[in-house]
Amino acid sequence: MFSRNIEKALNEQLNNEFFSWYNYLSMSSFFRALSLNGFARWMKAQSRREMVHAMKIYEFLPERGGRAMLTQVAQPSNQWDSPLAAVQEAYRHEQEASGMINDLVDLALSEHAHATNAFLQWFVTEQVEEEARLRAVVEKLKLVGEDPYGLFLIDRDMGKT
Ligand code: FEO
Repeated sequence: MFSRNIEKALNEQLNNEFFSWYNYLSMSSFFRALSLNGFARWMKAQSRREMVHAMKIYEFLPERGGRAMLTQVAQPSNQWDSPLAAVQEAYRHEQEASGMINDLVDLALSEHAHATNAFLQWFVTEQVEEEARLRAVVEKLKLVGEDPYGLFLIDRDMGKT
């Protein structure tokens, strides 16, 4: 059993994970429209990871006597200035998500909610990987700049990941 504070914060995180899923799906569609099918496939895989994150929280809430409360998911953008702009936004979003997870850990620790803290540690580790994955693609895109052939090569590689 956990406090209403933790239940509320976990539900906010649940909503954010659903937004991440929705946002990355929108980015995948954006890449597909640019015929960057490697990026589209990779971003769709990112999106699927977000659904896994959301469902972990969804399942954990009732296990501890709480309830998953589904609320409105914000509308994502549908257009970005460039592939780099889209991936940079995703990277920023992951940094914010890491901050939210860290705040949740702080809350759990302040309330001596050890089971919740243990549950959240999986997310702490996952966020390190998520940020690293996005940052690597941002760096690659910065490296090729406006070069279409460079973008073509990255897209080809992204399709293999
Ligand atoms: Fe669920 Fe990408 O953080």
